Amino acid sequence: MTSPLDPSAEPVFLRLRRLYAQAGFDIRINLNPAFFSGWGDSLFCMLYKDGQPLATGGGGISISELYFFECLRSAASFSSIFVIGNSGGWGTLGLSLLWPDAEVIAIDCGMLEPPNKLYEAIDFDRHRGQTGNDFGIELTNDLARRNSLNVRVINGMSPDDLQQTIPSACSRPPDLVFIDGGHSNDQLIRDFQGLQGLVSPACVYVLHDVVNWRMEKGFQECARVSALESRILWRTSSGMAILFPADAPPALREVVTAFTEDDVQLAEFRRRAPRRKMASIIEKLPEESLLGKVKTGIKWANRQMRFRRDS
Ligand SMILES: C[S@@+](CC[C@H](N)C(=O)[O-])C[C@H]1O[C@@H](n2cnc3c(N)ncnc32)[C@H](O)[C@@H]1O
Repeated sequence: MTSPLDPSAEPVFLRLRRLYAQAGFDIRINLNPAFFSGWGDSLFCMLYKDGQPLATGGGGISISELYFFECLRSAASFSSIFVIGNSGGWGTLGLSLLWPDAEVIAIDCGMLEPPNKLYEAIDFDRHRGQTGNDFGIELTNDLARRNSLNVRVINGMSPDDLQQTIPSACSRPPDLVFIDGGHSNDQLIRDFQGLQGLVSPACVYVLHDVVNWRMEKGFQECARVSALESRILWRTSSGMAILFPADAPPALREVVTAFTEDDVQLAEFRRRAPRRKMASIIEKLPEESLLGKVKTGIKWANRQMRFRRDS
């Protein structure tokens, strides 16, 4: 077996994971929620150091979301990328690896939440890492420097600091914005409104966690006040959403279509999912268990009945 000839053809997930691994950080990502009490956030990226999860402000984008951006890269080139909500830099650095010629600027307010005793008791991810408020910002800027990536994370609050930050930090108005900061409908609308007049008229907006954090109303309001087309990307882990100009090229539309679902089919799938889940649990019962033996017996009886009917 030979090494790949073109390192830039290497999947972004491998390059991004290696970038953290080389600095001594491990990750947890893409664990199937069905194997972990249905805990959906096990899909997102958590940084680890010396076996401990690190508190950086929130989970990074999942592998399916990285893959969405990788597909988007095949359809669109961006020269100026702006990120609201950086946490440990996983998403920000991923965007820079995908569009190495773009300038990537991120804003993050650092960890504002004081330690919460309730979370400490029940949530092992949140406070075990003992990191400082700006840990994620400093880590991302350090990793960017070490890997010669054109990335800068600025400590600031969206939307209040956008007016000052974007014109001074971005050498061109952003043509791709990734919003993953405060997770409420109001905050999403305020972030979106705060960006108006500061980004390129051809700007594409990708919004994280729209379905996961029930921000569909906020997303619809952003679509309503803009002249942009809007779709929810159901085939991404958090239910991301996208807003893009009506004259977007067909290649970009194809990527959007590839990551969404037809509304009618989605409603039908939602309706059938509880029964389908039950059928799948029964299907997968191990043969050697008591219930598995009952299942095998029922299958056998079913075959016998069909045989008699048919003969
Ligand atoms: C879910 S994390 C971002 C994860 C990141 N996008 C990734 O994929 O790796 C959310 C981050 O947004 C930051 N944040 C929350 N509200 C903000 C605001 N109003 N302005 C700036 N940053 C904010 C938090 O400090 C936190 O680090």
